[in-house]
Amino acid sequence: MEKLVIEGGRRLEGTVTISGAKNACLPIIAATLLSDDKSVIRNVPNLRDMSTMVKILKNLGVTVQQDGDTLTIIPGGYKKHIAPYELVSTMRASICVLGPLLGKHGKAEVSFPGGCVIGPRPIDLHIKGLEAIGAKIKVERGYVIADGRKMKGGHVYLGGHFGSSVLATANTMMAAVLTGGVTVIENAACEPEVADLTMFLIKMGANIKGGGTHRLIIEGVKKLHGADHSVIPDRIEAGTYILAAAITKGDVTVKHAKLEHNLALMDKLTEAGLEIKKVPSGLRVRYVRKIKPLDLTTLPYPGFPTDMQAQFMSLMTVTDGISVITEKIYPNRFTHTSELARMGADIQIEGPTAIVKGVKSLSGAPVMASDLRASAALVLAGLVAKGRTDIRRIYHLDRGYECLDKKLNALGAKVWREKDK
Ligand code: EPZ
Repeated sequence: MEKLVIEGGRRLEGTVTISGAKNACLPIIAATLLSDDKSVIRNVPNLRDMSTMVKILKNLGVTVQQDGDTLTIIPGGYKKHIAPYELVSTMRASICVLGPLLGKHGKAEVSFPGGCVIGPRPIDLHIKGLEAIGAKIKVERGYVIADGRKMKGGHVYLGGHFGSSVLATANTMMAAVLTGGVTVIENAACEPEVADLTMFLIKMGANIKGGGTHRLIIEGVKKLHGADHSVIPDRIEAGTYILAAAITKGDVTVKHAKLEHNLALMDKLTEAGLEIKKVPSGLRVRYVRKIKPLDLTTLPYPGFPTDMQAQFMSLMTVTDGISVITEKIYPNRFTHTSELARMGADIQIEGPTAIVKGVKSLSGAPVMASDLRASAALVLAGLVAKGRTDIRRIYHLDRGYECLDKKLNALGAKVWREKDK
């Protein structure tokens, strides 16, 4: 195993280039299963989650070639329809092969995805969406077993207790594009990653209206062809580097970052006193005055993204004053707080709310990564802490951040990997 070591206290400046969006790539790679033709997916980040999704496709009999950040996917006449436990259990998002397998073959068996440290990860909305278009679903031997031979268009409301579901929307949409009749998804997720998936499906020949809105209208077509698509930049990676600039009082240009994908974060950070400007290559972020403490609630898009909550909290731990952070998507998504406390942060958890009292400074310490975004929060804390921070179990980071140490060092940080005894 490896650990990431950070020598804190260095101001970040310069330009960082954002990679393709992990959470757009995963369902788009799955969507290629809806056709026998070749598809080309570009701007694919080099991440562990991508290789897991590629392994699942290869396991189904699909040919996948990689050339740098470009995947060439040739489903050919693949016949298998099972995504096995040993692959799905390593990445929850694998559940998004359920919809395309059902749409293409009328049947699918996908291992029931486990929960993870950010909380239970139910799939009731996935099942609700698929049953609404006539699929018969049962859970047996730890597998979701779906029979879609009698699927037809349907009308479904996909809002759950915590709002709309990104991958339930993706699964229902991907199952519906080849299903006869019209399917309407109300309260669909409208994250940019879902909009990008919709774009890709339309390029494949799908008939979908309302992409990027809460209402999707899908008219089933007979067949889909392959498509060539470049994936949108990763707004969560961009947001993480924007916060890295803020926490180190730096001046960083985040290349390819799209303002319109990060409006909630921009709104909050501008309110906090950070200067954020649109530049031809992306966004330029400058620390120009003392950051103010802020209250924050995570919400479905276009609200403040839950995937930025942990990173934002790191900034608040060294911001003078009290900030109140409420997590409405995953109420227990606070595993990072105990590790931040080891570095001297003052955080009190009251149910789905964290009360953060800014401290003068954090001190470097050995800490443990627990999930992808919690690990990113520890990296941000390490960048500003006095002394050395060792972050163990950094395989979590490698799932969602491409060449993180390289990109940070190019901005003036001092970060390296070491064998973890
Ligand atoms: C996607 O997960 C993202 N992952 C997550 O990013 C992100 O945190 C999440 O959306 C919310 O934005 C990918 O796209 C691969 P949801 P997803 O279904 O689709 C509840 C990261 O760090 N829910 O939108 O699995 C659920 O428990 C990852 O990159 C149900 O109740 O999330 C949560 O409280 C972490 N029933 C809320 O809805 C369901 O059937 C939103 O979950 C499904 C979800």
